[in-house]
Amino acid sequence: MFKSSTGEIPEARPVPRHVAIIMDGNGRWAKRRFLPRMAGHRRGVEAVRNIVRACGERGVEFLTLFAFSSENWRRPVDEVSFLMRLFVMALEQEVSKLHENGIRFRAIGDLSRFEPKLVSLIRDAEELTRNNGRLTLTVAANYGGRWDILQATNRMLKERPELATGFTEKDLTPYLALSYAPEPDLFIRTGGEQRISNFVLWQLAYTELYFTDTLWPDFDAAALDRAVVSYQERERRFGRTSEQLPEFAGLATQRRVTG
Ligand code: IPE
Ligand code: IPE
Ligand code: MG
Repeated sequence: MFKSSTGEIPEARPVPRHVAIIMDGNGRWAKRRFLPRMAGHRRGVEAVRNIVRACGERGVEFLTLFAFSSENWRRPVDEVSFLMRLFVMALEQEVSKLHENGIRFRAIGDLSRFEPKLVSLIRDAEELTRNNGRLTLTVAANYGGRWDILQATNRMLKERPELATGFTEKDLTPYLALSYAPEPDLFIRTGGEQRISNFVLWQLAYTELYFTDTLWPDFDAAALDRAVVSYQERERRFGRTSEQLPEFAGLATQRRVTG
């Protein structure tokens, strides 16, 4: 089990171990070019490919991408079905490459609303790549942070009814969809909005938040490095004072590894 930021203080590392991204701005990217929104989503898949590679090269161990929220069903049917087709196509084209590169693929979210074909592509990809250890790429699809906390609580109580009278963080966290990953160190949202939009809620308790106006299709390795440098400049205190930090003396050298 990984350390809970509210239970124990995670080890300080210059490169974030887990990066979680809200990939926003595809529609606006397209609109600025007088293109249909779908063109923006297509370019968004290319940005995913680049960022997965860049994260692997930089030693990020977990990358979690918000691809479709539980609220995105509210979009026009055409756009929703295009996104589903794009997801199918991306899996068909990319999974073998992910596997060759030692990347483990996982999906989190309520998959029950997806077409069986998409679900089986997801399950096959998870199965094929399950023993890969270089980077774990998690795609959040029909995911919502509140859904996650509720499904975890419900599953926990079903398996352990004795906890109905009271349970702890430690009891609950194994049931959360991201239980196989440490809590995100760095959260990035592209596209200029400064909100969480029901992405991972529980695990963002002590995550460093980074917001950029860059639209997702334009988010490249250099943009990722800017986010990482910003992360390296933060002091993660987890409730303590600066003076209490064990790395206090070496902060200046510890930081700015890529900058
Ligand atoms: C993010 O881009 C992709 C998804 C939510 C699937 P948007 O489609 O939200 O792009 P904007 O926010 O309209 O620019
Ligand atoms: C958040 O983007 C969800 C994904 C990136 C998949 P949205 O564009 O749907 O977010 P809101 O609704 O504007 O907050
Ligand atoms: Mg958006």
